[in-house]
Amino acid sequence: MSLSDCRIVDLPKISDPRGNLTFIEGGVHVPFDIERIYYLYDVPGGAERGAHAHKQLRQLMIAVSGSFSVRLDDGREKKTYFLNNPHRGLYICPMIWRELDDFSSGSVCMVLASNRYDEADYYRDYSTFRQESGNR
Ligand code: TYD
Repeated sequence: MSLSDCRIVDLPKISDPRGNLTFIEGGVHVPFDIERIYYLYDVPGGAERGAHAHKQLRQLMIAVSGSFSVRLDDGREKKTYFLNNPHRGLYICPMIWRELDDFSSGSVCMVLASNRYDEADYYRDYSTFRQESGNR
């Protein structure tokens, strides 16, 4: 798994004068069955989230409101995405270190995940992640 497996996913948008609607179907708009949804909100200005990688977990990350930056790192290369569109998601494959910052006021980061929460699936130490990513 590498940075080239991560990508922006355009989601359906049903435009309507009453307000727009976007939907996401597991296995259709995301390449996995959705087992869990979580979201970050009330993030104070200047805060950083993430700073970890996952061994198996696959995720789709969406700025459903506001904006934030996501730095991805596969142990060799780094790439930064700016998410600010509720009908565009960032697919993150396993073995990618991610750091989130620059949250705008009132922003909401929603994450669709392929598995339930499991602390054993995390790398929280960058040097361990880097070493393991090189061994794959
Ligand atoms: P963490 O994944 O480190 O947050 P982030 O990457 O968004 O900064 O999780 C923060 C805390 O919340 C940690 O104690 C684990 C807990 N947590 C759950 O209990 N369930 C979940 O689904 C998630 C994502 C986190």
